[in-house]
Amino acid sequence: MKRALLLVWASLLRLLPRANAATASNPWDPFISSPAARHVQPVAVHASSGHVTITTAEHGHPHLSMAPGDQVSFDFGVEVGGWISLNANASAGTPQFSLAFAESPSFVRSISDDTGAVPTQDYDKALNVSLPRGPNFYVLPRERFRGGFRFLTICAFEPVTISNVTCEIGFAPGVGNLRDYSGHFYTPDDNFLVRTWYAGAYTVQTNIAPQDTGRFLPQVKPGWAYNASLGVAAPILVDGAKRDRAVWPGDLGIQGTTAFLAFGADGLVAFGNSLDTSFYYQNKTTGRFPFAGPDTASFRSGSQSDTYHAWTLIAMYNYAIYTGDSAWLALHWSNITRGIDFILAALDNSHGLHNQTAPNDWGRQGGGGYNSALNALDYHALVSFAGLPSTWTSNTILLSQGAQWAAAAGRLKSSYNALLWSSQDSLYRDNQSTILTPQDGNALALLYNLTNSPGQASSLSAALTRFWSPIGPITPELPDTISPFVTGLEVLAHFSAAQPSRAIELMRLTWSHLLDSPLMTGSTLAEGITANGSLYYRGNAGYNHDAAYTSLSHGWSSGPTQALSFRVAGLEIVGWRKWRFRPFPGSLKTVQSGFDSPLGAFEVAWTVSGNANGSFNFEATLTTPIGTTGLVQLPWVCEGVFMNGELVKETVTQRGGRQKLTAVSCLYF
Ligand SMILES: *[C@@H]1O[C@H](CO)[C@@H](O)[C@H](O)[C@H]1NC(C)=O
Ligand SMILES: *[C@@H]1O[C@H](CO)[C@@H](O)[C@H](O)[C@H]1NC(C)=O
Ligand SMILES: *[C@@H]1O[C@H](CO)[C@@H](O)[C@H](O)[C@H]1NC(C)=O
Ligand SMILES: *[C@@H]1O[C@H](CO)[C@@H](O)[C@H](O)[C@H]1NC(C)=O
Ligand SMILES: *[C@@H]1O[C@H](CO)[C@@H](O)[C@H](O)[C@H]1NC(C)=O
Ligand SMILES: *[C@@H]1O[C@H](CO)[C@@H](O)[C@H](O)[C@H]1NC(C)=O
Ligand SMILES: *[C@@H]1O[C@H](CO)[C@@H](O)[C@H](O)[C@H]1NC(C)=O
Ligand SMILES: *[C@@H]1O[C@H](CO)[C@@H](O)[C@H](O)[C@H]1NC(C)=O
Ligand SMILES: *[C@@H]1O[C@H](CO)[C@@H](O)[C@H](O)[C@H]1NC(C)=O
Ligand SMILES: *[C@@H]1O[C@H](CO)[C@@H](O)[C@H](O)[C@H]1NC(C)=O
Ligand SMILES: *[C@@H]1O[C@H](CO)[C@@H](O)[C@H](O)[C@H]1NC(C)=O
Repeated sequence: MKRALLLVWASLLRLLPRANAATASNPWDPFISSPAARHVQPVAVHASSGHVTITTAEHGHPHLSMAPGDQVSFDFGVEVGGWISLNANASAGTPQFSLAFAESPSFVRSISDDTGAVPTQDYDKALNVSLPRGPNFYVLPRERFRGGFRFLTICAFEPVTISNVTCEIGFAPGVGNLRDYSGHFYTPDDNFLVRTWYAGAYTVQTNIAPQDTGRFLPQVKPGWAYNASLGVAAPILVDGAKRDRAVWPGDLGIQGTTAFLAFGADGLVAFGNSLDTSFYYQNKTTGRFPFAGPDTASFRSGSQSDTYHAWTLIAMYNYAIYTGDSAWLALHWSNITRGIDFILAALDNSHGLHNQTAPNDWGRQGGGGYNSALNALDYHALVSFAGLPSTWTSNTILLSQGAQWAAAAGRLKSSYNALLWSSQDSLYRDNQSTILTPQDGNALALLYNLTNSPGQASSLSAALTRFWSPIGPITPELPDTISPFVTGLEVLAHFSAAQPSRAIELMRLTWSHLLDSPLMTGSTLAEGITANGSLYYRGNAGYNHDAAYTSLSHGWSSGPTQALSFRVAGLEIVGWRKWRFRPFPGSLKTVQSGFDSPLGAFEVAWTVSGNANGSFNFEATLTTPIGTTGLVQLPWVCEGVFMNGELVKETVTQRGGRQKLTAVSCLYF
């Protein structure tokens, strides 16, 4: 009965015009944390101390009468970011009060979260506000932008009354309705998965930055200024809401995809502006892409990274296939080629592997030598772009280039297995001269198909669970750390080994902590945690035991959003105007998912129903853009598979359009 209703509802929904998506009530609406308006007010008083009188003013919003020493902390309910405004009736003495901003409930206090990693935790302090005597409408100065917070603490130094506390949301500028996502993911069978998808989406939305909201360098102390240019165009996708507020290529490898899946064209614009920034700062001599965007100390000091160079290319490839934009590709092809040439030049004569000499990375320790993560990233960049030329152009120079890149990738893969695979551990080593088996290199090797057989992939997937703790994998390459960035890659990788249950189990371990720990915002995903779940991420590795520095809204932690759309729901863009439908239901019975691309809309809705003899039936409606082709690849054996009523095989090539797929009496093999 329930399923029948849902099916009817699902088919009705598809008939609704796109513009109604925001106003129609969708079952996933309650999972969206985005504010309903640009100007939002706190939802609660989180804490207060002293003699403050809090009354309810017009429209039910609080009115504070504060005496010197009084303190009130407001809760906006979810992560927000932007500029505060308020009405204050001030006395003669100045400053009358201060403002402090915090993401985590554990740092709600009279000073702000730290955006400079120092153990004393007080670079930012609080912003003192000095107003003329009498009634004022106060607006935070533009350069005092705060990109990510949930709590605002007001401390009074002089008698003052305060009302109409409002945050003008700064992120996703130009978007009319912040809740009008063009993509969706929903299942009535598992709220946790839907929450995780939407937390990833909202996290990335808070990372879509308006122009000139990067950290001013050298960093202002005490205080803060976020008025620096982030790149060559805006809005732009940055790594985190509170900090660093900069373009970072590893992050783009995950968050660019989330931005596309959740926000379609709006997400692609921000993603594309970040990539344009990388093109602009590409080294003209070497072809190397920058480690980070211009408003970082890493950029200014000329720090370079071999892995982030490869991530830049991977993000560019993703952007190219999500848009299917040949003009973009043609415009940037010579820059991309120079970037690939940088990798080719780095592959040595003896093994065709990249000796990592610029080991700056996502924060991990070690690195160097024939690093497994680096070479897996290089491999994926090479095979991906090698696969493009023949499909978007018939230019013969480009075609022979592609063949050369594919050959280099083939040699790399063969040496990779010969030198790095440890059959004793069923894992790849970090390089040829260590016994350390990393999470990052292994997750990437599995995800990007460095393995030679399904058997090897399966044993690698199983071996990765050795790192798991009750809240996720503790990375061998960075002690005391759980990295949602690397763990998101591992989640994706387990699907490559056809291990959906393991992937979902891992998602549950780490992301339920990220969503539900009382340390978190409850709406966005933190950049990292320690093995015990605390915010002392990278305490010994750059963050100086400064838990208030850790970003609680970091797009690189949104890997599950992609895993749920592309792997669980199963509809993924995998090449130039090419998609694949390969669902992994696990224990789910009903799933629907969709996303908008410049090629057209991609949508899927499916149901699984069990038969008494243990087999199951599967029914899907699949919509893909005209002009695309795809591979339907059911990971089961079935007694019959029907495409629009016609008998087909479990694996079948399809043209774009709307298709109805029915598979009867299927079994996992
Ligand atoms: C502002 O405060 C002063 C001193 O308490 C009071 O006389 C005045 O009426 C207040 N003005 C408003 C608009 O509330
Ligand atoms: C803000 O004002 C208070 C009260 O006058 C003062 O103690 C504090 O040092 C000031 N903070 C800054 C950062 O100027
Ligand atoms: C309350 O704040 C909003 C948003 O900043 C502003 O537009 C409005 O004018 C303020 N209300 C009053 C009474 O000043
Ligand atoms: C940004 O803020 C800093 C610190 O307040 C200031 O020195 C600088 O001039 C500002 N830059 C711009 C472009 O406004
Ligand atoms: C480009 O790379 C070369 C070689 O590493 C280096 O000497 C040069 O400074 C770089 N150029 C820029 C603009 O960073
Ligand atoms: C890459 O593209 C930019 C323009 O976006 C250009 O200024 C730059 O010279 C190019 N770099 C290389 C190495 O082609
Ligand atoms: C890798 O590069 C380092 C630093 O240049 C060098 O010492 C080492 O011998 C190289 N290793 C290999 C295998 O080429
Ligand atoms: C190999 O990896 C380990 C662990 O990351 C690292 O400590 C070591 O320096 C690397 N070896 C080389 C030759 O770079
Ligand atoms: C992965 O690699 C294997 C063995 O090298 C190859 O047969 C297979 O086609 C590859 N899979 C994909 C999806 O490229
Ligand atoms: C959790 O780990 C951090 C970093 O190792 C440590 O500083 C903190 O004391 C630990 N917290 C608890 C409750 O054990
Ligand atoms: C299992 O049950 C389904 C539905 O009743 C039926 O179509 C199918 O033939 C059965 N399979 C076997 C192996 O008996």
